[in-house]
Amino acid sequence: GVSEVTVRVPMNIALVKYWGKRDEQLILPLNDSISLTVDKLTAETTVRMIQGVGENTVEINGRRVELSSNKRYQTVFDEALRLQRKRKEDSNQNETECISHHFEVISKTNFPVAAGLASSAAGFAAIGRAIQKILNLNDTQANRLARIGSGSACRSMFGGLVHWKKGEKEDGSDCVAVRADSENWKDLYCIILVFDDERKKVGSSEGMRRTRETSTLLKHRIESVVPERIEQVKKAYESRNFQDLARVIMADSNQFHAVCLDSVPPIRYLNESSWRLIEVVEKFNQQEVKAAYTFDAGPNACVIVQKDDVPAFIKAALQDISIPSEDLKSVEEDLNV
Ligand code: DP6
Repeated sequence: GVSEVTVRVPMNIALVKYWGKRDEQLILPLNDSISLTVDKLTAETTVRMIQGVGENTVEINGRRVELSSNKRYQTVFDEALRLQRKRKEDSNQNETECISHHFEVISKTNFPVAAGLASSAAGFAAIGRAIQKILNLNDTQANRLARIGSGSACRSMFGGLVHWKKGEKEDGSDCVAVRADSENWKDLYCIILVFDDERKKVGSSEGMRRTRETSTLLKHRIESVVPERIEQVKKAYESRNFQDLARVIMADSNQFHAVCLDSVPPIRYLNESSWRLIEVVEKFNQQEVKAAYTFDAGPNACVIVQKDDVPAFIKAALQDISIPSEDLKSVEEDLNV
């Protein structure tokens, strides 16, 4: 037998960043994080669960992933099979025979992979959702599958504002992502500026380990900064207070890059273009805070603005990066604003 499911899952952008693990195997974070789900950037993923012995395969955007050098997929498949066995035991299906299975995954993203754009998040979230459907799992189990693939993936399981709680337990049972808003803020737009679509220099896992082991600023961030910021984001989002939301987003992006720089050896994700963009946003915000930048583990920027300010921001950004006005027009048309 073959079970096949195709799902489309969006990526998310962290407003208060996840950086540092308390457990590397189960991917349990050192701090809570909160993100915005970006509907239009998705990973369309087909998962086939096939009976019988065979090789697991994963293909992303037409390229075969070398599974021996990326153990996360195997972890997810093993966990899926464990959950399946557990369910059978729970429902008292005393199957004496042990049927083996293997998986085939084909994923297509409509945005660059590994550019520090949390693209792995959408991919693993999609795998989690697809396996959930195949095995009829509950949301917490699907959340766990996505998370052990890539931490930030568990935040892509819902729309809107999503709060990933670090939890306290060692087995990760209270480490889950939950929806954190009562209604989607439809007016929020996310403009992604790709300055470099190459693979990141220091991967998240390696970077997080280095920061946890060497940064003194990280402790301060986790204990005294993040909890308050999570509440501030929720409150600003709920009351549609863009200025408050934007201030927290930018402050947290900057602190995340500061703890990277505080690591030994220091990690630098932002480049010249990133900094120019920061200056563009600062200038744009001079009278009133109307845009917020945020950067993940790479130089590419995500700028969050309200719908009405999209054209003005793009104009400001492109003027500075000196792109001809005909191109600017087509960008505006693309965006339908
Ligand atoms: C900077 O989720 O990619 O984007 O759990 O090791 O797979 P792993 O890391 P990953 O880290 C994302 C880090 C970040 C911030 C964030 O998305 O919260």
